[in-house]
Amino acid sequence: MASAAKTLLHPAAKPLLFVAALLPFAWLLYGAITNHLGANPAEYLIRATGDWTLRFLCLTLAVTPLRVIAKLPTLGRFRRMLGLFTYFYVVVHFLSYSWFDMGFDVADITKDIAKRPFILVGFSAFVLLTPLAATSFNRAIRWLGAKRWQTLHKLVYVIACLGILHFFWMRAGKHNFAEVAVYAAILAVLLGWRVWQFAIKRRSGGVASRTHPTTTGRTNPRTVSR
Ligand code: HEM
Repeated sequence: MASAAKTLLHPAAKPLLFVAALLPFAWLLYGAITNHLGANPAEYLIRATGDWTLRFLCLTLAVTPLRVIAKLPTLGRFRRMLGLFTYFYVVVHFLSYSWFDMGFDVADITKDIAKRPFILVGFSAFVLLTPLAATSFNRAIRWLGAKRWQTLHKLVYVIACLGILHFFWMRAGKHNFAEVAVYAAILAVLLGWRVWQFAIKRRSGGVASRTHPTTTGRTNPRTVSR
């Protein structure tokens, strides 16, 4: 375990994760440029970026349970980057839809969001993700204060449920639920773990403070539990 913690603390660990997280995007870009995305490249791009949004959301939510179960607190340093990549992929997903399906016509996009419930649900998840991405920096944590920051970031559970509902609704027309069931099961385990932890903490006499004030009395972003 000590060697795992040492590897995670290696100065190259974060740059490596950054490059790895960009690989799906680079692969899609390469496929688009070389015309290797199949008969319907626009549909392929929209669907693939939707899949990667959901995968990064699952990875982001998996950090805390893994950190606690594997007793590897250093894992926490990767959570912000994974969360920001979730946002990156949803932005690319939204831009692909806006460009290839809607020709960047704002009036058409607005009408489509209002008309198709699965688009409305996806769009709501996107809107809710925006303040989380915008407040993922240390200065925002200090500005909001740890308590308010943690309350705001609980929205990620609502976003996960909306993401699954969006996927389910999209696949409902095709009666193809196998992949939806896999993602729903992963998210149910990750969210269920949090509920279970919360219940344990409550039973053992209340939730202990999860932040440690600095000597100046201000929130230290490094110690805020994410
Ligand atoms: C957190 C937010 C979102 C997540 C997690 C998400 C996830 C997904 C997933 C997993 C798919 C299916 C991919 C597949 O079939 O393999 C998908 C498809 C799609 N999403 Fe999203 N999405 C999100 C937000 C949005 C937004 C904001 C829009 C547009 C306003 C959007 C529009 C679409 C469209 C048009 C499709 C393809 C439908 C089709 O091909 O019939 N999504 N999304």
